[in-house]
Amino acid sequence: MDQIRIVGGTPLKGTIEISGAKNAALPLLTASLLSADPLNLSNVPDLADIHSLIELLTQHGVKCEWDLGSKTLKLTAQTITSTTAPYDIVRKMRASILVLGPLIARCKEAKVSLPGGCSIGTRPVDIHLRGLEELGATINLQDGYIHASAPNGLVGATVTMPLVSVTATENLMMAATLAKGTTKLVNAAREPEIVDLANCLRAMGATIQGDGTDTIIIDGVEKLSAATHRVIADRIETGTFAIAALITGGELYLKNTSTDLLPSFISSLQKAGAIIENEGDGFWVKSSGQPITGVDVMTEPYPGFATDLQAQMMALMTICKGSSMITETIFENRFMHVPELCRMGANITVHGSTALVRGVDQLKGAPVMATDLRASVSLVLAGLAAEGETLISRVYHLDRGYEHIEEKLSRCGAKIERIREALAA
Ligand code: UD1
Repeated sequence: MDQIRIVGGTPLKGTIEISGAKNAALPLLTASLLSADPLNLSNVPDLADIHSLIELLTQHGVKCEWDLGSKTLKLTAQTITSTTAPYDIVRKMRASILVLGPLIARCKEAKVSLPGGCSIGTRPVDIHLRGLEELGATINLQDGYIHASAPNGLVGATVTMPLVSVTATENLMMAATLAKGTTKLVNAAREPEIVDLANCLRAMGATIQGDGTDTIIIDGVEKLSAATHRVIADRIETGTFAIAALITGGELYLKNTSTDLLPSFISSLQKAGAIIENEGDGFWVKSSGQPITGVDVMTEPYPGFATDLQAQMMALMTICKGSSMITETIFENRFMHVPELCRMGANITVHGSTALVRGVDQLKGAPVMATDLRASVSLVLAGLAAEGETLISRVYHLDRGYEHIEEKLSRCGAKIERIREALAA
């Protein structure tokens, strides 16, 4: 397995272009299943998760033409040849569950492997399933698979979700576009990726209102048609590189993105002493030259502080002046980066869902191991700030969500390199 070697201590300076959002692109790709006509997506990031989903869509019969150079992807689901999403692909990526809503809406049946838990939590899919039942689907769980059917098609209904779930909102919103009548999704997620999906579905001919609020209303239509859509900027990549600037005492211009995508995160950075300046189609993140001040954060559904930026924020707080209390409310096991950060000299104590981070003057490089996508990037950030060499193993997690991360960072002065498997072994 590849490793990443970092020699820390260089303040980053320069421009980083932010890629299209993984978590926006994934549901957009599955939206192609809703129509026999082509869906043309641009700004599609070249990530392992996108490759996995293309593999899945291909075996459903979708023709996928991806031009990596221009970052465009043409998806044509003229005929759905299989309504089964097999375990072998779903287990690689939980977001594969996003084919369920479109398949049942278009084909009136679907068989999708249950995704199972992952390292950060049990992550059930009950809200997806209950919502589809309320739209008239019959759901049976058998042999590790979700068997969903709606022989007469889905019928609009009011679905009140007990918890705010991003992918459940997306699945139900997509399913409802082809249902008979009106669907009201109550307690819906408000993430920018939901709005991006709604924009694309509208371009395909869907009637949707209220996206970006907690109540989304969808009037079902007979069919959806061809559309062209650009994937929004990745707000988690944006936040990650903002921290890279601050943790190294440097300054970066983050291009093709916006502070509007992450209001709570930006305000936490400003409280910590960061200088943030909007300019053109991006913004500057600059260290004030003073040590970072400890701030408390609690993860929450959007527009609150994103759980996907919690590990990176913790890395920043390890070298703060004072201390910081970080509370994780979305996933039950999302502190696996803590012992690894402590191996680099951080002072962190965990009590249940809260971590108390007492700032230290300096992190020290060490061999560490990545455990999930965002935890692994928090180790990259810590490595950029640490004195000496950090060697990160299991970096395949990083490749799921960060496009060309070493290139982007090294162009701004970071001493970072990938050691390929054969050499690392
Ligand atoms: C999405 C994001 C992920 C992010 C998460 C929270 C994608 C592809 N992934 O994941 O990066 O960390 O939102 O912002 O967009 N839950 C249930 N039952 C369900 C569904 C969810 O109990 O049926 C719980 C989850 O276990 C979790 C909480 O609800 O505790 C929120 O999870 P959810 O928003 O569904 O996360 P994902 O959509 O899987």
